[in-house]
Order: sequence, then structure tokens, then C-alpha cells
Amino acid sequence: MAARHSTHGGGRSSLTVLGIECSCDDTAVAIVRRNDDHTGTIRAARLATQIDRHRPYGGIVPEIAARRHIDILDPCIRTVLDLCQLKLSDLDGIAATAGPGLIGGLLVGLTTAKALALASDLPLLAINHLEAHALTVRLTDGVAFPYLLLLVSGGHCQLVIVHGVGRYQILGSTRDDAPGEAFDKAARLLGFEQPGGPMIERAAARGDPTRLDLPRPMLGHHGCDFSFSGLKTALRRHCESGRIATNADRDNAAAAFQAAIVDTLADRTEQAIQIFLADSAIIDSPTQPCLVAAGGVAANGIIRQRLSTLARRHGMIFIVPSPDLCTDNGAMVAWAGLERLHCGAYDALDAVARPRWPLSDLTPPVAQ
Ligand code: KG4
Ligand code: ZN
Repeated sequence: MAARHSTHGGGRSSLTVLGIECSCDDTAVAIVRRNDDHTGTIRAARLATQIDRHRPYGGIVPEIAARRHIDILDPCIRTVLDLCQLKLSDLDGIAATAGPGLIGGLLVGLTTAKALALASDLPLLAINHLEAHALTVRLTDGVAFPYLLLLVSGGHCQLVIVHGVGRYQILGSTRDDAPGEAFDKAARLLGFEQPGGPMIERAAARGDPTRLDLPRPMLGHHGCDFSFSGLKTALRRHCESGRIATNADRDNAAAAFQAAIVDTLADRTEQAIQIFLADSAIIDSPTQPCLVAAGGVAANGIIRQRLSTLARRHGMIFIVPSPDLCTDNGAMVAWAGLERLHCGAYDALDAVARPRWPLSDLTPPVAQ
């Protein structure tokens, strides 16, 4: 089905979009405005996490997640509209994550967005979750293209040169686990609750990383690929050997695990920095080159510190959104929608939900 909104988006500078994120276990919505000067303003945001409902099962149960999204998405949308004192007809578009993610949740979010778009004759924006993470720094800090991005989340790990909306040059990816997944598995091994990343970070602050020697997979290897499964296996062997007897042992293991992840991320990012800084577009650019981090794992304070030091050493600025905008949120989806809508692009109402949807499959927005 074709959408009918040729007057929306392209050519107008101030635009307001509702963003819906239901790709995993968080129901998140936000209303974001793109201002005349190209900055963004988060007008209202709501996030409802379901983590308690999944805890008894030791992981996210897709069916429970989808049902919960159905229950709470509508009230969340109502709340953000009320907070901004806006009606649907005051908006310029409805954006929802269409992938990658759990198919049940994606269908709930995308179908809701389609219904709202159809009912209020607004353009639909079917957003790639990874693109939403990748563009968040343009909402928070107005970062100009191109920039080097380390995207680290529960399901993804990539080093990317972001040349523009829909223009992603992938320099490296993980060959197995994503770092968030590794943090979550390590937390399970050590008996911490989920999500594991924040728990490991807290425990690591109490521990001594030098009490346990864990491998740093891919360290010093050519290229920008990552691997985390060997690190996780080494931690599992350590746990199975019975050497975690006290809380202090647990904290030391958490600290050693986090240090291994940080070293690996920094080493791989340094390889990518060398490629990025040799790019002719960067050499010719009058502005200082920029390293950006995004995704849930970029909420980690030690990772942020290390990347900041690394960037400075290479004459780059380091920019990372606040922790609540690194983890999944509705504002990033609304903003990705705004970036596309500003170019006059939007999606047809038969846009499909895509459980797998790599960044490399995206294309730049085309005005309709
Ligand atoms: O981006 P995100 O919210 O969801 C995905 O798109 O995957 O990332 C979630 C991941 C989880 O694996 C979580 O453990 C990790 O981000 N995470 C952290 C921290 N906060 C969240 N990892 C390390 N340190 C943190 N402070
Ligand atoms: Zn995410």
C-alpha cells in the first residue's frame, strides 16, 4: 500500500515525531522535535522495562515480552502526548522500530505505528534499531557526518564510519557474541541479576582486576573484528573450578572480566581510528574528527573513560550520549524518523518487521 503524504517532511525544518521502540524487553516511547537550527529536543519520554517479568526464566521470553508491549504501549503513548499537550494531528510523523529484534515486539510496535499513521494521515517511518543508536549523537550533540562509531549493545558490536543517514561503512563486527551478551552471560555465571552489564560494572568497582588473568580475544590482530566467546568460556572455567568462594572473589572476577572487555574494545577501536583518520574525507575536513560510542554497553563508565582517553590520544573528540540514551529508548527512534522525514522520506504502510536487518542493508533516504 502506498502512503499519501507528499506534503510532509522534506522542505520543512521544524518537525515533531512520535517514536516507538518495542524490539526487545523495553517498551519505550518519546516525542522529539527537530528544531529550525537542526538541533533536537526531547519533548517527553516514557520507558517501561519488563525485566522483573522475565527474571524467573533466566532470560527474555519473547512471548511474554510481546504480550506486555501490547498491554502498556497505548497508555505510554497517551502519556507522552498528554505531557506535551499535543494531539496526534499536531505531529509530523510516527516512527517505530521495524528491526532487528524479537518479531513479536516488533510487530506490536510497528502495527501500532501503522494504525496511528493511517488514522491521523501521517507518514510512517519504519526504523532500523541500529541506525537509531548510530544517529543518537546527532540528537544529543549535533555531531556532523562523517564520524567513527563504536556500536556496542546486547545483540551487536560494530565499528562503523557513519557517512550520512543510511550510509554506513562497516569496518569490523563481532565474530560471535556481542559485548552486552557477554556481560549478561558473565553476570549469570557470577550469580548477578539481569541486565548483567550494570551489575558487573558495580561489582567491578569493588573488585581488583589483577587477581584473575582473563584472555583478550583478537587483541593486536589485524582488522577491526571482535570476539568475546573465548573470554566468556575462560570465566566459566574459572567459576567451575570452585575458586569463587566469597563476595570478594566475585567482585574480583567481575573486575577482571570488565577489564578484558575494555581492553578488547579499545584495541579494536584503535585499529578503526587508524583507518578512519587515513580516509581522505577526514584528512580534508576542517573540523576535529569525532569518535562516537552508542548502544547499551556504551553506558559503562569505564568504557566511556577509556574511549575518551583513546580519542584524545589520536586528536579526536569523543562523544557519547548520556547513559539513558545509550540503552534502548524511544527518543532515538523518533530522531532517526526525523532524520529521514527531514529528507522527505517515509515508508509505505505495508512496511515489514525484520528480525534480522543489518546496517549494511540500509540506503540513504529518498524524497517521495
Ligand atoms: O542497546 P541496548 O539497551 O539493547 C540492545 O539493543 O541490545 O543494550 C543492552 C545491553 C545489555 O546487554 C546490558 O547488559 C548492556 O547493554 N549494558 C551495559 C551497561 N548498561 C547496559 N553493559 C555494560 N555496562 C553497563 N553499565
Ligand atoms: Zn539497542
